[in-house]
Amino acid sequence: MSGKIKKIAVLTSGGDAPGMNAAIRAVVRTCAYYKVEILGVYRGYQGMIEEDFVELNARSVRDTINKGGTFLKSARSKDFKTKEGRKKAYENLKKHNVDALVVIGGDGSFTGALLFNQEHNFPVMGIPGTIDNDIYGTTYTLGYDTALNTAVEAIDKIRDTASSHNRMFFIEVMGRDAGFIALNTGIGGGAERILIPEENTPVEELLQDLEEGHAKGKTSNIIVVAEGDKSGKNVFQLKEYVEQKHPEYDIRVSVLGHMQRGGAPSCYDRVLATRMGVKAVESLLDGKSNYMVGINNDRMDLVPLEKAIKGGEGDKIDKDLIRIAEIMSV
Ligand code: F6P
Repeated sequence: MSGKIKKIAVLTSGGDAPGMNAAIRAVVRTCAYYKVEILGVYRGYQGMIEEDFVELNARSVRDTINKGGTFLKSARSKDFKTKEGRKKAYENLKKHNVDALVVIGGDGSFTGALLFNQEHNFPVMGIPGTIDNDIYGTTYTLGYDTALNTAVEAIDKIRDTASSHNRMFFIEVMGRDAGFIALNTGIGGGAERILIPEENTPVEELLQDLEEGHAKGKTSNIIVVAEGDKSGKNVFQLKEYVEQKHPEYDIRVSVLGHMQRGGAPSCYDRVLATRMGVKAVESLLDGKSNYMVGINNDRMDLVPLEKAIKGGEGDKIDKDLIRIAEIMSV
């Protein structure tokens, strides 16, 4: 391990995700283990600009592994998108003798980290934290597994009503640009149809499928729709569209919303966060920078930040899952 890095800062940025606290804890404790100082930054990049810092130690992160959200708080900083904002942030880190930065967040946060590094030659390391799982170079992001379990539990509950009343439900799940949550909770929740941004399903096709299902004797239907679906209609408009064609269908809408982002992290997310936190600090101490820690084939990987940022490798949705969902809705 290089002796150059004596102090590391850690922040969480973008949408909070279950497992972020566990990742902060792992970063803090790994620093303590290697006798490196650790500074917490509140409110992501905004806190870096406003010098909103807290000195942390191994004991400051007690009782955090099981908590949702992020105790360092998070923000989507507009100021950090400007050169002046990033300069101010750099000056603040220097003032506090920080030598490297760990950023826990999504692709927007990594874009900021990369610019920060390019402009100030400051070592950065990313940990993917977003329930959307839309980061390239890692099979899982922090919070995704927990969000899947939260959403599928909600879908199960809705199914009770759908089935008791012979109803059709359009359920919107999160995923601004990605269908991972929709596809997996749709399969896990036994949905008839799943609409995701990566697949353009025309509404006429959806209608036809529902009609065929009806003819085959299906009495209730669950249609899981990703927030970012490209059908051109949101869940309420989809309901209206189907209702107009079939006033006899009893249709309801449920938007799961931010409840998917909260709650205690699953065991998988806690372990993943811990592994990623350790790897992030050890990599910085090894002199590495501009990487994200990823998990592939159950091993920790270092992925160049540019690759991790959206568009790096194209669509990472497993097309076979789409086929499987279709088979299941026979
Ligand atoms: O990126 C995570 C996410 O939860 C998306 O699925 C969702 O579209 C977005 O954040 C919502 O952001 P906000 O909490 O800022 O409304």
